[in-house]
Amino acid sequence: MIARFEELDWQLTPMGDLTLRRRFEPAASQEIYEVKLGDEYLMSSLFTVAEVALADLGLAAVTTEKIDVLVGGLGLGYTAVAALRDPRVTSLTVIDRLAAVIGWHERMLLPAASDLVTDARTSLVCDDFFAVMRAAPAPDHAGYDAILLDVDHSPRHQLDATHADLYTVNGLRALDRHLRPRGVFALWSDDPPDAEFMVKMRAVFDDCAAHVVEFDNPVTGGVSSNTVFVGVTRKR
Ligand SMILES: C[S@@+](CC[C@H](N)C(=O)[O-])C[C@H]1O[C@@H](n2cnc3c(N)ncnc32)[C@H](O)[C@@H]1O
Repeated sequence: MIARFEELDWQLTPMGDLTLRRRFEPAASQEIYEVKLGDEYLMSSLFTVAEVALADLGLAAVTTEKIDVLVGGLGLGYTAVAALRDPRVTSLTVIDRLAAVIGWHERMLLPAASDLVTDARTSLVCDDFFAVMRAAPAPDHAGYDAILLDVDHSPRHQLDATHADLYTVNGLRALDRHLRPRGVFALWSDDPPDAEFMVKMRAVFDDCAAHVVEFDNPVTGGVSSNTVFVGVTRKR
């Protein structure tokens, strides 16, 4: 029998109270996992189509045969596991600021966890993705062929005010230093395509696109959508 509601973990983190819970969602007739940070819903396993599309659309734009991927924001792990399905991926580094989130995967509390942590290509790193992007790449690190980012709600709505600088032209240029030649940056957003943000993307990257990803929403009974922004570095 499925419990109607179960709190799997609760931790006080530098970003607030973090809760992982599993519950039965009657609208979808399925068990779901959801993450709350304070009073905000951070992620639900009910909606994963666009998280998977972030990896699929980002990696589809990569033309190299071997791909080192960096994912910003582990969450429930759907973007990371989708990236591992691409056989060209030789390494996958996932940065998450919350040790608790990484711990949920290492403790196999989440449905995607075993595919992620048992894959030898995966490294889970507890750090601030935005601080890593602000810093110059280490001289002995060649950079990434793809950087897939899903931390904030959108380029305009951040989880934390310290993230805002990444979504400026200078912030995107700083991130670009971490891409190898022909590398790709892809970004998930809860908001519709954003013309002002596209101007910033085009200032730094080539072949910019804003893909609208639609999915059935069993809670509203309608169709919802997210956006995946993609851009290719000018380095050749
Ligand atoms: C919406 S979830 C990511 C969902 C993920 N795409 C998936 O498929 O499940 C956002 C994640 O970003 C993490 N996060 C928040 N601030 C961060 C930061 N400054 N650096 C790295 N990760 C951060 C949160 O802990 C959370 O795990």
